Amino acid sequence: MLALGTLVRALTAAPPDPVRVPALLAEGVDPATLATPSWFRTGGYTRNLIHRDARLAIVCLCWDAGASSPVHGHDGQRCWMAVAEGTLAVQSFAIVSGGRAPGPAVVRPRGRRERLRAGAIDARDPENDLHRVSSPFGRAISLHVYAAPIERCLVFDLARGVCRETRLVYDTVPADSHDERRPE
Ligand SMILES: [Fe+2]
Repeated sequence: MLALGTLVRALTAAPPDPVRVPALLAEGVDPATLATPSWFRTGGYTRNLIHRDARLAIVCLCWDAGASSPVHGHDGQRCWMAVAEGTLAVQSFAIVSGGRAPGPAVVRPRGRRERLRAGAIDARDPENDLHRVSSPFGRAISLHVYAAPIERCLVFDLARGVCRETRLVYDTVPADSHDERRPE
């Protein structure tokens, strides 16, 4: 199991690729070096920027019990998620109609909801990027590597049959970062 600093140095040493990134994440990251208790928000989840450069963004998500992301895409970028602590659920979705740009969008679940325990890795690519992550089993911490950094993504409202574009911001950023935090 790696300390976060060691993992970040390894991830940023070369361009991210579909072999190297999951291999590094598979070594595991020590949750004690990854997140602080103050990053948890009752009933929801927070996105906490760890590192960002032109090639990739590394973000820690802290999930309270029962939190859920919207169904969302990754703007055609690759993304890897490693569960560092706890257990997360991931449901993939497929587009039935629309859904490539803001507006009408019908999606349906693709496959079964997966249960990812600590150490598990989920990989997303442009062909398989619609999904929803949730924490129905209790608090959890996950580490996400985006290649390249994502500025915006589509989020889907299943009940209304529409999707909209949302700008991604962070709940916390490193002290030396110029990136934007989520408005309070
Ligand atoms: Fe995602």
